[in-house]
Amino acid sequence: MERPRVLVTRRWPEEVERQLAEWFDVSFNDGDIVLGKAELSAAMGEYDVICPTVTDRLDAEVIGAGDRVKLIANYGVGFEHIDVAAAKARGIAVTNTPGVLTDATADIALTLLLMAARRAGEGEREVRAGKWTGWRPTHKLGSSLNGKTLGLVGFGRIGIATARRAHHGFGMKIAYYGRREALPDVARELGAQFYPKLRDLLAASDFVSLHIPGGVETHGLISADALAAMKPGSYLVNTARGGVIDHAALAEALRSGHLAGAGLDVYPAEPKVPEELLDLENVVLLPHLGSATREARIAMGERALANMLALAEGRPLPDRIV
Ligand code: 8YV
Repeated sequence: MERPRVLVTRRWPEEVERQLAEWFDVSFNDGDIVLGKAELSAAMGEYDVICPTVTDRLDAEVIGAGDRVKLIANYGVGFEHIDVAAAKARGIAVTNTPGVLTDATADIALTLLLMAARRAGEGEREVRAGKWTGWRPTHKLGSSLNGKTLGLVGFGRIGIATARRAHHGFGMKIAYYGRREALPDVARELGAQFYPKLRDLLAASDFVSLHIPGGVETHGLISADALAAMKPGSYLVNTARGGVIDHAALAEALRSGHLAGAGLDVYPAEPKVPEELLDLENVVLLPHLGSATREARIAMGERALANMLALAEGRPLPDRIV
């Protein structure tokens, strides 16, 4: 029997590329250059499975360009770059890789929280520029985390993992906003307070961390008004998707001092970073490192492979979205 043809759009860690090649007839992107719309469209008629990432836009036009693909096995948990409704309409299954990048992403949320609170980016830049003049009692004072309220916007796997680190590791109080209340044992473990209204959560939090999916439903959720509702002197962290924040308004809130700081891992049009943020000292800017551990990136590949094998063997897909 012919082996299913698979396209992997970006380089994966070698270990998982090797595993994949044992099972399938795989095309790897040797140059690791982002594929264009024309290449993705052509692939729809040439492969049985496509494994895209956040850097590939699979819109309705691309998805409708060919009729061979049976599975889009996304490498990553977020899938707003894929028009899942268009895929569903054409009978194409879509899967993602939940669970395996939870810890890595929660670690980056805490990295950003600590870096923003303790002005670590500013400090590093000062040292490297040869501008550090020595210890003094008032040098680069930041904020402690202990006893402060961390407000989680979205309380799924990554939101909860972030809350656990912040509460058990740093003594933070936990509040959250989400579509529904957390399971009672999770709420009890974290002493987590539920806010059914986003504005109320924002007004009650010293630190806010975003853990909601991207896409049209959450686009611009952290608007100028939402930022104005945040406590003066508070901090904002984003490891979710860039489109969730109005960055011009965020830059203004950071410039005016209404917000003490922010930490961002994601941006609306990556790899472009909103220009207005680049000159601000009180924002930490990371290049989408959320899941960037060897362990997570290997596990993500294995998770995508598990979905492909399930398809090949006619079993239910473990991480099916549509
Ligand atoms: C991934 C992420 O590495 O999984 C996600 O949704 O944001 C990242 O950590 C990236 O999206 C790969 O597709």
